[in-house]
Amino acid sequence: MKVLTVVVTLVAICALSGGQLLPNIVLILTDDQDDVLGSETGIPKTKELIGKQGMTFNNMFVSSPLCCPSRSSIFTSMYVHNHKGVNNSIDGNCNSLSWQQTREPYAFPVHLHDQGYQTFFAGKYLNTYADPAVGGVKHVPLGWDWWVGLVGNSRYYNYHLSVNGTDEAHGSVYEDDYLTDIIKKRGMEFLEQQSNRNPFFMMLSTPSCHEPFTPAPQYSSNFGGYVAPRNGSYNHHAGPDKHWLIRQAITPIPDDTAQTIDEIYRDRLRTLLSVDDMVEDVYNKLNEMSLLDNTYIIFTSDNGYHLGQFSMPWDKRQLYEFDIRVPLMVRGPGITPGKTSDVPVMNIDLGPTFLDIAQTSIPNYMDGISFKPTLMSNSDSQTVRENMLVEHYGEHVVNIPNCPQLHNQGLFVCHSHCECQDSWNNTYSCLRVVKPGMNYKYCEIEDLENFVEVYDLAKDPHEFVNLRNSTDQQLLTTFKQELYKLVHCSGSGCVTPPIKYS
Ligand SMILES: *[C@@H]1O[C@H](CO)[C@@H](O)[C@H](O)[C@H]1NC(C)=O
Ligand SMILES: *[C@@H]1O[C@H](CO)[C@@H](O)[C@H](O)[C@H]1NC(C)=O
Ligand SMILES: *[C@@H]1O[C@H](CO)[C@@H](O)[C@H](O)[C@H]1NC(C)=O
Ligand SMILES: *[C@@H]1O[C@H](CO)[C@@H](O)[C@H](O)[C@H]1NC(C)=O
Ligand SMILES: *[C@@H]1O[C@H](CO)[C@@H](O)[C@H](O)[C@H]1NC(C)=O
Repeated sequence: MKVLTVVVTLVAICALSGGQLLPNIVLILTDDQDDVLGSETGIPKTKELIGKQGMTFNNMFVSSPLCCPSRSSIFTSMYVHNHKGVNNSIDGNCNSLSWQQTREPYAFPVHLHDQGYQTFFAGKYLNTYADPAVGGVKHVPLGWDWWVGLVGNSRYYNYHLSVNGTDEAHGSVYEDDYLTDIIKKRGMEFLEQQSNRNPFFMMLSTPSCHEPFTPAPQYSSNFGGYVAPRNGSYNHHAGPDKHWLIRQAITPIPDDTAQTIDEIYRDRLRTLLSVDDMVEDVYNKLNEMSLLDNTYIIFTSDNGYHLGQFSMPWDKRQLYEFDIRVPLMVRGPGITPGKTSDVPVMNIDLGPTFLDIAQTSIPNYMDGISFKPTLMSNSDSQTVRENMLVEHYGEHVVNIPNCPQLHNQGLFVCHSHCECQDSWNNTYSCLRVVKPGMNYKYCEIEDLENFVEVYDLAKDPHEFVNLRNSTDQQLLTTFKQELYKLVHCSGSGCVTPPIKYS
């Protein structure tokens, strides 16, 4: 008994700061939710309860517009070239044994746990999670007390979970199996068991609004009259301004593709309605337990999405804003309700921000930085970073079942009309500069043409005009040098000093 008392006291000391319990943190991560195609229509309550009662970020970017690389960045707070999870496969280090041994034990949840946090995870982890080749459901990542990990990639029905390392099979009955609701239910069970002895970190990682876009039955006919937005670059013929993959898109978009795009748009919104319910229930539960005032709730996504932009049917993986921008809303103690911020932030900053909130040190191998100062600030001048890096390693497979003529050409995700959304040469790194008076993107594509794309987002928000031949040579050289620095950066070296422009 004596031993037990000592342990409890130690934990309590770790978790207290000046006699006050450290803040709780709830992270809600959606899958493939865009920030610029109107997905917010599916989350009205979230906007009200987190956005309007907290801070909404206008410039949140991901390190890679693909699930596993982006999620690996979220957990490790590293750019892709440092965590080395380059694609969605085990051989690309997505949840590989090597990743589990050399990256996962250093991820932010481990540090929160060390700081005395009770940690809970439910939903999609990394795309190849629990594959028999890499430990199966028995593998529970370090740092998590409660673990409800989805086996494999996003599904809504007919999936398996690893519940604390034990397999749990689910079928297709809405009440028992709809994954977003199961995540909510398990989250509620966790919350109900929280006392005031330890702070907690809870992560709810939904399949919404990833394919197969299956709505809950009660929402299956919402948004009946809605169609995907036609503004911006929808149905825009890219032409010679864009690199090879984008030039393959068919313009005008064929009727059947346009119809599918609209159906997907509606179904994505419908799946988000269940996420919106989850956010409301979490909020109400925290309120009921009088924990709201000491809890940060963060809402974001792993990457964006496109639905007809530059006539590309549907997917992510592209270097344009629709795929690399995601929503970010944060509410919690010290945040002025209703604020918006233009400060550029990234997915690699989430971990450092959580560690900052938890008042523990940020390890020097993390490439991201805390944006807690921005959350606490009443002015918008809290710019901590100007230069950001986006990296993508184009995925490709040998067989394209629906387009046999495309076998062995280095392509992937080919929809009807054989329009592919990825290729070996859709491999690129981009410098994204966001600062007062400057809003640029400079990308080097590793294809046979060494294609370069340059956009002035302030003048051309939809990235119609590639400025590679009309940008001042000195500016291009500066971009090239800054990109080079970021592609080779690690730790604090990834927050490069502001660029000086002539
Ligand atoms: C999972 O583990 C946690 C921590 O030990 C425990 O409190 C919880 O009840 C477990 N969940 C299930 C479903 O066994
Ligand atoms: C299209 O218009 C909607 C509604 O005005 C807006 O919210 C959205 O950001 C626009 N999308 C693009 C890509 O410009
Ligand atoms: C993932 O990356 C690995 C390592 O570069 C590569 O061998 C594999 O072909 C990639 N997978 C896909 C689907 O592109
Ligand atoms: C890109 O890859 C495709 C498929 O392998 C190939 O046909 C095309 O020539 C390549 N283009 C460039 C610019 O690399
Ligand atoms: C733009 O520059 C590239 C690379 O230098 C060149 O190949 C291309 O022909 C130029 N395009 C135009 C329209 O001048």
